[in-house]
Amino acid sequence: MIRRAAMVKMVVIAALAALVATLVAVLIRWLPESASEEMDRITFVYWFATIICIGIFALVAAVIIEAVWAFRVQPDDDTDGPPIHGNTRLEIAWTIVPAILVIAIGVVSAVVLSKNADAGSNPLHVKVFAQQFAWKFEYPGKVMSDELVMPLHRNVKFEMQSADVIHSLWIPQMGQKQDVVPGITTEIVITPTRTGTFTLICTELCGLGHATMRAPVRVLDQPAFQAWLAKQRSAGGAGGATSGAAGGQTGGATSDTSALGKTTFASAGCGGCHTFTPAGTDAQVGPDLDKLAADAKAAGEPVADYVRQSIVDPNAVIAKGYQPNVMPPTFGDTLKPDELDALVAYLSGKGAS
Ligand code: CUA
Repeated sequence: MIRRAAMVKMVVIAALAALVATLVAVLIRWLPESASEEMDRITFVYWFATIICIGIFALVAAVIIEAVWAFRVQPDDDTDGPPIHGNTRLEIAWTIVPAILVIAIGVVSAVVLSKNADAGSNPLHVKVFAQQFAWKFEYPGKVMSDELVMPLHRNVKFEMQSADVIHSLWIPQMGQKQDVVPGITTEIVITPTRTGTFTLICTELCGLGHATMRAPVRVLDQPAFQAWLAKQRSAGGAGGATSGAAGGQTGGATSDTSALGKTTFASAGCGGCHTFTPAGTDAQVGPDLDKLAADAKAAGEPVADYVRQSIVDPNAVIAKGYQPNVMPPTFGDTLKPDELDALVAYLSGKGAS
């Protein structure tokens, strides 16, 4: 039988161990501040499992420390320990109790998973297009955006597609994370609970530019979101270009081409990998597009020809210091002819303002 004194000691050790573990759990900010209903539920699961773990840790720490101390070998003791034939009651207890706890964590997780996957009856549908190394978002009415804008307190259902390799969508404060896999459409639901700006991060190693594959996220209250969506609709309406939105332009063909080149640069995700001062981008995965004239000269081609070739057939000429097969070879297919022409003109400095 365990003596009363030993029992008291073990309770004290358990209390101390629980205190230390609790302080580690509470004082360190392990999770970002929640910004979605889904993250609230995930945080609940985290604490549910953590509290159980603290209890088990305290019990195990108390038994181990007391056993090591009380049964340590004496200096002059060369005898064998007493033969032990198990303890049926103890063994039943340490089988049933953990089984119940693990099942409880499993049930809570399953309920949260199913709730977090439920988009409700009236979600906002947003299509997500991932490619090396950029995100694009499509709202109802074919509104395209490089920025993810979400309405407060509304279920947003993402339908995600990848143009090349596996990417993964994650906004830390929103909790939810889901792979974007070529060939299938994956889904995820996020319901924002506070306004603000966040960052969408790709969390699947997808190539050289993986670390730069991010997108800005904004949560707006419902009226502000509707206003934003209406503005995007009118800006991206007839003609496809946003030439009207900039204002104060002289108009005419040059301005249209310039605007289309600029929007194509943005929508194709060029800025995810390339520095180009006119577009305000500074990524360094691929060659610096401010130096296209020098690169074309090195390749012995006119600038416009060199630019077009580099977009349609990226491996034809590899700029010094860079590697082949990094830039997607698909832009010749995915860009419309007028978009490609405008992009070439924009990058070649013709029609760029
Ligand atoms: Cu896309 Cu990492």
